[in-house]
Amino acid sequence: MIYRKKIIAGNWKMNKTQAEARVLVEDLLREIGKFDDVEIVLCPPFTALSAVSELLSSVSNVRLGAQNLHEAPSGAFTGEISAGMLRDLYVRYVIIGHSERRQYFHEDNATVNRKTKAALQAELRPIVCVGETLPEREADKWKDILETQLRDGLAGFGDKELADIILAYEPVWAIGTGRTASPAQAEEAHQWIRKVLGTHFSPAAAERIRIQYGGSVKPENAKELLSKPDIDGALVGGASLDARGFTAIIKNACLD
Ligand code: 13P
Repeated sequence: MIYRKKIIAGNWKMNKTQAEARVLVEDLLREIGKFDDVEIVLCPPFTALSAVSELLSSVSNVRLGAQNLHEAPSGAFTGEISAGMLRDLYVRYVIIGHSERRQYFHEDNATVNRKTKAALQAELRPIVCVGETLPEREADKWKDILETQLRDGLAGFGDKELADIILAYEPVWAIGTGRTASPAQAEEAHQWIRKVLGTHFSPAAAERIRIQYGGSVKPENAKELLSKPDIDGALVGGASLDARGFTAIIKNACLD
């Protein structure tokens, strides 16, 4: 069986000033500096990237991520941030197509595709989010939804591109609701995602890609979720804002 290193990312969303970010990262680094069998990514808001980047400059096991980017390299796009600007701050990862971007900022699968392409061209590693809403889950349409998101979001890419992409399965009904997908539900969705990828890419590439689970991940449920064979990490929202909680989640991803 192929080894996939677990990857735990904290999506801080629209939280933390620079000063608050520094406190959180300093607290975290005291705890997580020693875990190197897990990849750790922190995704602060744009305004705190610089402060966090400085604190991570001497740390080898924690990387910086952004929560979004614009697809164009530069130009008249008021309020937007390009991949090159992120690279300039030593950002290595970028979340793309988060359900909040899809829901509140009208991003669709074509946008996700363009943004993923822009990230890859700039040598940023995209964390591409997919997931169904509650009505889609209840109508048993989740497989079709995921299939379309993957097909259109990753259109035009081959094995080479897939190797640099991380996927995050985030059922919309589990985000910020306290309602986690059960480990069995999450595993079933991850298996489906891998199966769909196997029809668009080589089976080996589909085996290699890491798929994070996101949606109300907490210290209490992380161990069981992360012990599932196709769950290769977590994309953590609320619980990543607390150093102790986030550390506990990371500990659950460490090899026994
Ligand atoms: P919560 O962990 O707060 O449910 O958020 C999940 C998420 O959206 C991570 O990207």
